[in-house]
Amino acid sequence: MHAIPLNFILYFANLFRMKFYDKYILPKLTHLVCSQNDITRVREKLVPLAKGRILEVGIGSGLNLPFYDPTKVDRVWGLDPSSQLKKIAKKKAARMPFDVDFIGLSGEDIPLEKNSVDTVLVTYTLCSIPDVRKALNEMNRVLRPGGELIFYEHGRSPDKNIRKWQDKINPIWTKISGGCNLNRPISNLIKESGFKIINLDAKYNSPLKVIGFNYRGIAVPA
Ligand SMILES: C[S@@+](CC[C@H](N)C(=O)[O-])C[C@H]1O[C@@H](n2cnc3c(N)ncnc32)[C@H](O)[C@@H]1O
Repeated sequence: MHAIPLNFILYFANLFRMKFYDKYILPKLTHLVCSQNDITRVREKLVPLAKGRILEVGIGSGLNLPFYDPTKVDRVWGLDPSSQLKKIAKKKAARMPFDVDFIGLSGEDIPLEKNSVDTVLVTYTLCSIPDVRKALNEMNRVLRPGGELIFYEHGRSPDKNIRKWQDKINPIWTKISGGCNLNRPISNLIKESGFKIINLDAKYNSPLKVIGFNYRGIAVPA
């Protein structure tokens, strides 16, 4: 009998593990990590600023939904590629006192007209979108003049020593975290995509500095 090459076995074991992990474990882990109290406290302050026709890019499990101010919301559109996370979000959406429509999969291809949105909300998602520049250009396209991009994201640290670790760990981190990147220069990416940042608070929110440098703010199409 021919021996099955070890590489062949390892390849399929890895494939099976990643498929199983991505489908059953990662969505639950993402929901859990994003439900942390310190993140929730920021959601409480940031999300009620959204108004009018709102697009949430990377709506995930819908953790922002309870914090929208119903008196300011005309409607919410949500998009996300994860069917597992959207399943959780849809249950929450059904209990909201405003309409929530799930309209698409990817921030790089937003199925909405130019200038059709008053607020784009994006939280802990710019780290994970494969073509983040394309997605930011899309957000800029759908926002009306004067509309606001509200963001809360982790990313590249201003400290050289931490940045060095972010760059080192990133290749492994992206594999186990569903494509999340530790080292994206969030405010620069936003500015380079045709936005003017009108409010920015950038600081560590966790002692775990490689993942804890956060950018929270508001930008408008320039
Ligand atoms: C860490 S989770 C954050 C979820 C949610 N925004 C929150 O604050 O709880 C990152 C989200 O980005 C989504 N994502 C990944 N690639 C994306 C893409 N191309 N376009 C839009 N969302 C994407 C993931 O499916 C996931 O829901």
